[in-house]
Amino acid sequence: MVGSAFVTGADRGVGLALTGALLAEGARVFAGQYAAEVPALQRLKDNYADQLHVLRLDISRDDSVAEALRATSEHTDRIDLLINNGAILGDIKATVMDSLNYEEMMTVFNVNALGSLRMSQAFMPLLLNGESKCLVNISSEAGSIGDCRRDSWYAYCMSKAALNMQSKLIHNRIKPLGGRVLVVHPGWVQTYMQGKLDVGATLTPEQSAGSILKVIEARLKIDAEHLACDYVDYEDRALKW
Ligand SMILES: NC(=O)c1ccc[n+]([C@@H]2O[C@H](COP(=O)([O-])OP(=O)(O)OC[C@H]3O[C@@H](n4cnc5c(N)ncnc54)[C@H](OP(=O)(O)O)[C@@H]3O)[C@@H](O)[C@H]2O)c1
Repeated sequence: MVGSAFVTGADRGVGLALTGALLAEGARVFAGQYAAEVPALQRLKDNYADQLHVLRLDISRDDSVAEALRATSEHTDRIDLLINNGAILGDIKATVMDSLNYEEMMTVFNVNALGSLRMSQAFMPLLLNGESKCLVNISSEAGSIGDCRRDSWYAYCMSKAALNMQSKLIHNRIKPLGGRVLVVHPGWVQTYMQGKLDVGATLTPEQSAGSILKVIEARLKIDAEHLACDYVDYEDRALKW
């Protein structure tokens, strides 16, 4: 599908599955590892020694993103696909009637909304050097203002709505340069985002990742000049902004 890709938050869940699926398709993958030790990524490295580059990456920090760019640039001057996947949830219980933890909210914002922007801004020269020039921001249905039905999840919902807006801003700037931005809700996925495995979720990370890559692949067949910045789910169904 693509020659090369960068995936953030590749430690587990959807990010790990996207990394594995891209490697299986033959892509060279730069995988951002957040935790100190991630055996699952190490196992992938054992199988794809030449294709996989694992880099420590905390998208909430300028210096970490700059170091990831430096390390990536030692290997290549281009990336076809950047997938901003790394995110955190924060508190999902407190409503406006409760006490709200603003410090935690700022941390969630810094990762979910600013972290992806930090990555997109830093890696933009490599992305625009690539063939596909494709930026994918993994958002959530929780970022939809049009379909908002929750009365809590403040940090997560607000940060994903902000992510959606920055996706459009980037798309507007890079479309004339042949670039494209796609905003994807990965579905309800069995991951550890809520602190324990969400066994009630409908999709495995592998199912979600496989579907997301199909959505991306379909977009890559269309000339960037004909593409808007779409906000879709893993089956390419449009979401309300
Ligand atoms: N699961 C769902 O049902 C669902 C629904 C809608 C949207 N999403 C979105 O899908 C994406 C993947 O989530 P997931 O469900 O796969 O959850 P996950 O397993 O918790 O994955 C999130 C990843 O981000 C990493 N991460 C956390 N803080 C980071 C930071 N500061 N810098 C870089 N990476 C960081 C995590 O690393 P560690 O694991 O080492 O902490 C983990 O690898 C997220 O954008 C999420 O918002 C998920």
